[in-house]
Amino acid sequence: MLLKIIKMLVRYYLYRKEQINIKFNSYVDKNTTIGKYTYIGYRCMITQAQIGRYVSIANNVFIGMGEHSLVNISTNTLFYENASLVKEPIIISDDVWIGVNVVILRGVTIGRGAVIGAGAVVTKDVPPFAIVVGVPGRILRMRFSDDVIQKIENSKWWENDVDDAKVAIDKLTKSI
Ligand SMILES: CC(C)(COP(=O)(O)OP(=O)(O)OC[C@H]1O[C@@H](n2cnc3c(N)ncnc32)[C@H](O)[C@@H]1OP(=O)(O)O)[C@@H](O)C(=O)NCCC(=O)NCCS
Repeated sequence: MLLKIIKMLVRYYLYRKEQINIKFNSYVDKNTTIGKYTYIGYRCMITQAQIGRYVSIANNVFIGMGEHSLVNISTNTLFYENASLVKEPIIISDDVWIGVNVVILRGVTIGRGAVIGAGAVVTKDVPPFAIVVGVPGRILRMRFSDDVIQKIENSKWWENDVDDAKVAIDKLTKSI
């Protein structure tokens, strides 16, 4: 009961201060950092990740799960030390949208503005503004042309708070 109240207070604090919205039954470990205006849906589990600003994470998303030893006789963690290994942190840049039921494996970097389609298993880095789908994840297409991507990158709209970000996005939308 006490733990439940503490969790609710942490959620409330994060939402009021940083507008980070973490829905119920989601677990985020202490090694994870989350940028302002990021949304994490229901039943997600996230470890060892650096998550940017304005990221949208749908329900049932698993990011940075531990790996068991593949070289030991048994994969069961009872038989070796340092059980739940995540070798590299996962990096998820600003304004990434991650669909439902996605798994992002350890050490992956997802570039700014990328989209991960529902049900994907992401095993490799994803370039900025790519749409990735499938198992294993593959690039379906890029969201924008190179020159539009450059304009978006130059604007750095995600560094703004939401009102200024809206203004910057409107300006960008008219210019492309
Ligand atoms: C990937 C996505 C963003 C759509 O991108 P899109 O470029 O508009 O894709 P399209 O619908 O035009 O489909 C293009 C192709 O990709 C396939 N495709 C689309 N989404 C897919 C997915 N999640 N997994 C596998 N293949 C997918 C389509 O079947 C189609 O294949 P085809 O060319 O062989 O017919 C969307 O399908 C998706 O997965 N959205 C996530 C929804 C979600 O999880 N919402 C949570 C609420 S926050």
